[in-house]
Amino acid sequence: MHQPVISATGVFTPTEIITNDELVVAFNAYADLYNEKNAEAIASGELTAKDHSSSEFITKASGIEQRYVLNKSGVLDPNIMHPVLRERGDDEQSQMAEMAVTAAQVALEKAGIDAADVDLILVAASNFERAYPAIAVEVQALLGASGFGYDMNVACSSATFGIQSAADMIRAGSVRKALVINPEICSAHLEWRDRDCHFIFGDVATATLLERKEDVKGAHFDILSSKCATQFSNNIRNNNGFLRRTRAGHMDDRRDMQFMQNGRAVFKEVLPLVSKHILDQLAEAGLASSDLTRLWLHQANKTMNDFIGRKVMGRDPEAQEQPNILQDYANTSSAGSIIAFSKFSDDLKAGDKGVICSFGAGYSVGSIIVERVE
Ligand code: COA
Repeated sequence: MHQPVISATGVFTPTEIITNDELVVAFNAYADLYNEKNAEAIASGELTAKDHSSSEFITKASGIEQRYVLNKSGVLDPNIMHPVLRERGDDEQSQMAEMAVTAAQVALEKAGIDAADVDLILVAASNFERAYPAIAVEVQALLGASGFGYDMNVACSSATFGIQSAADMIRAGSVRKALVINPEICSAHLEWRDRDCHFIFGDVATATLLERKEDVKGAHFDILSSKCATQFSNNIRNNNGFLRRTRAGHMDDRRDMQFMQNGRAVFKEVLPLVSKHILDQLAEAGLASSDLTRLWLHQANKTMNDFIGRKVMGRDPEAQEQPNILQDYANTSSAGSIIAFSKFSDDLKAGDKGVICSFGAGYSVGSIIVERVE
């Protein structure tokens, strides 16, 4: 058995930012237009008037202050309310592959690794811009990697489930170097016209490079253990699959084709699931909470992360023990915990341990215990 390690990470961040204030101005203009257009139906009780959103609510309920997006103008146009992304020809690189390659190249450069030596590409994300060929195979070709690649989707837990898959293959010897890449274009499956969730998501891509320990010379993180679990729930759901065209109804009016959630229930049900999952994993690994220097949690909601941090540590974690990137990036689905890990792990000293943990639709929860090695 080989010891798998994380030798580098990379983040691709889009250049366009939408602040809460900008988002709320656009949403409120859209709501006014909607109410004006449907005044009669609203007056007769056939439709419900749309209420205004508020920046204060967004910051207080979620901890989000802004989000990066691939296209800001479409999202903020009250007559459009979604990103406008140029349709690419079959002979052009796909949008997801382009982001994935950018993040992967950052990780490869940091580790000083030639892409040709990578023999596994996993593109793990919440949504894919096409069914096949797998985006991972396109990324493999664009990078010039060897071996094989495939796509996988476990929603917000895609990154940690991908890391477990790659780590297991490195352990078993079937691959030597793996890239787990999470290109998340959340802006395209968010319903920007729904006040309850229009503030939740942003776009980003992350990449995690895994290698056999014996191949790595610089500082790295040993993967001490990984643990994945799923439990079916309809509380976070997106019905936009390939069968959509076989169903009756106007596709554009089908709210269930975008991200749907019952946020309160998610809050209540996922918190105990995640805290117990991490505590069980620590116990199985013979570790205590006091052995942890850092928690890199999924970035969906600040209150949720504060709660999990408190449960796992048995006290309020210090800010540096549980870094949040949510305020800058919003929820970036599977990429959130990897952004936090990428930006807040260089300061760890030899022997320091931490947990990368993601959770979300499925329900799903995946966690990886790592130890810094200099
Ligand atoms: N602006 C102003 N008010 C708003 C609003 C907005 N944008 N959105 C909702 N409200 C109102 C609601 O209508 C509600 O009003 P009411 O009390 O009169 O009914 C009130 O604010 C509270 O709404 P609620 O949805 O209960 O808020 P919340 O405190 O649960 O926060 C979430 C909402 C989505 C931020 C929160 O539930 C959450 O983060 N849940 C988990 C999300 C998660 O992890 N999802 C996984 C995705 S991968």
